[in-house]
Amino acid sequence: MDASFLLITFFLAGLAALGTLSMMSEARAFFVFGDSLVDNGNNNFLLTTARADLPPYGIDYPTHRPTGRFSNGLNMPDIISEHLGAEPTLPYLSPELRGEKLLVGANFASAGIGILNDTGIQFLNIIRIDRQLVYFEQYKQRLSSVVGEAQMKKLVNQALVLITLGGNDFVNNYYLVPFSARSREFALPDYVRYLISEYKKILGRLYELGARRVMVTGTGPLGCVPSELAQRGRNGECAAELQRAASLFNPQLDRTLIELNRKFGSDVFISANAFKMHMDYISDPGSYGFVTSKIACCGQGPYNGLGLCTAASNLCPNRNLYSFWDAFHPTEKANRIIVSQFMIGSSEYMNPMNLSTILAMDAST
Ligand SMILES: *[C@@H]1O[C@H](CO)[C@@H](O)[C@H](O)[C@H]1NC(C)=O
Ligand SMILES: *[C@@H]1O[C@H](CO)[C@@H](O)[C@H](O)[C@H]1NC(C)=O
Repeated sequence: MDASFLLITFFLAGLAALGTLSMMSEARAFFVFGDSLVDNGNNNFLLTTARADLPPYGIDYPTHRPTGRFSNGLNMPDIISEHLGAEPTLPYLSPELRGEKLLVGANFASAGIGILNDTGIQFLNIIRIDRQLVYFEQYKQRLSSVVGEAQMKKLVNQALVLITLGGNDFVNNYYLVPFSARSREFALPDYVRYLISEYKKILGRLYELGARRVMVTGTGPLGCVPSELAQRGRNGECAAELQRAASLFNPQLDRTLIELNRKFGSDVFISANAFKMHMDYISDPGSYGFVTSKIACCGQGPYNGLGLCTAASNLCPNRNLYSFWDAFHPTEKANRIIVSQFMIGSSEYMNPMNLSTILAMDAST
């Protein structure tokens, strides 16, 4: 082997290493955990009834086809990815998630799940939160085999994480049917305390697995979704009992995040006030360009709030005028309003700091 060959070899090896580095510094990785508000299509790969893989879901997605997102177009994680300058995260179960794509991060969320294992049992085969964390461990091993253990750890530590859980523990568990097992077992305040104690373990586990910037959304105004207006609301007013559940859950979640940050000695967990982010346009749809915040774009029955959104449902012609896409989930337009508060909201929306502050801070370290 002559010297020039060696030199060229070193040069190429150096280029490859630089390539890897620049690829990694392009955008930070993003990991998503939770339920249908943030599922990018994992449930398409499962035998479950909680799915969004048929038209008109995806009608405004770039491909105009359903993807498994519970939206007419983009969902919250997609819009956060835009702000990161990254491609949308792929569902963990997607066969496309391999090789370099692993560097973008992954989406482990699964529609129908909650904090508790018995939430969403009616949807059969969904990825409960414990399993999402097991998949995250698997992901880390797969990434290790591509970039090595040290780079993997660095990528995970520097990643942004979003977790959205809790709504289904009310809607698809405690309040699913009158006299549900959980509502006979617990009074609401005790149920909320139980949920929070279980959620705290899940968040601790995320930290153990290497997450260091985790945005945690509280529950939205559960009583104001078209489904609840149709079933429980009186004259279009938000259902009081579900609003009460949210108002008990959210402050306790905030306190838990503060406690965990104190324990870990750093601002790992960021509270995103989803209740307020949604309530802004629900209470004043007009100033956000919506014609209604009560009627879903796609559905049937009062407020288009009954049953599923299918090809046979009523469908509004202009999705930008509606805040709700189906009986439970926001339109892309509403998701954009929510994410803009993630980015620039005051401490009432994002505590202790908003996403633009996080991105600026972490970029300078
Ligand atoms: C939920 O199920 C997982 C896996 O089976 C188990 O490890 C965990 O303890 C369960 N959680 C609760 C709150 O029962
Ligand atoms: C949120 O973001 C904006 C824009 O970057 C910034 O000016 C503002 O101070 C931030 N607010 C808080 C409370 O961090």
